[in-house]
Amino acid sequence: MLTGLGHLHSANRYILLALILIVLITSFTKWKGNKEYSKQDDKLNLMTFIITHIQLLLGFILYFAKGWHNFTPSTMKVAALRFFSVEHMIGMLIAIVLITVARIKGKKIVEAAKRHKLTFIYYAIALVIIFASIPWPFRGFGNDWF
Ligand code: HEM
Repeated sequence: MLTGLGHLHSANRYILLALILIVLITSFTKWKGNKEYSKQDDKLNLMTFIITHIQLLLGFILYFAKGWHNFTPSTMKVAALRFFSVEHMIGMLIAIVLITVARIKGKKIVEAAKRHKLTFIYYAIALVIIFASIPWPFRGFGNDWF
C-alpha cells in the first residue's frame, strides 16, 4: 500500500511539472498578447490546483506513515534524512501555497492581463522551488526517475 502511494507520489511529479509548464506558457503568451482569461484557462488552473493538492495529501500520508516526522537534532546532521524530514516538506509547502494563492487572488482580478501576469509570476516562483525540492536521482536522495 505504502509502496504504491510512493510510486503515485513519485509519478505525479511529472503530471504536475507538465501542467505548471503549460500554465506558464499560456499565461505568459496571453499576458503579453493582452488576451482574455478564458474558461479553458480556468479549467487548466483548476486541474493544476487539484493535482497539487493530491500531491500534498499523498506527501503527508507518506511523511507520517514512514516516520519522517520522528526527526531529532542528530538525524538533522544527516543530509538525506534532513532532506525528507524538513527541506522537501517545507519547500513543497511554500510552492503549494503559492499555487493556491495564485488561484484565490486571481479570481478577484477582473482585468485579464493582470490575472495572467499574477498567475505567471506565482507559478514561475513555485516551479523553481518545486524543481529545487524534488529528490532527483542525481542528488542522491530519491529512489529513481519514477
Ligand atoms: C509539489 C509537491 C511535491 C512533489 C512534486 C513531490 C515529489 C516527490 C518525489 C519525486 C519524491 C521521490 C519519490 C521516490 O523517489 O520514490 C518524493 C518523496 C517524498 N515526499 Fe514529496 N513531493 C511533493 C510534496 C510533498 C509534501 C507536501 C510532502 C509532505 C511532507 C511530501 C513528502 C514526501 C516524503 C515523505 C517522501 C519520501 C517517501 C519515502 O520515504 O520514500 N512531499 N516527493
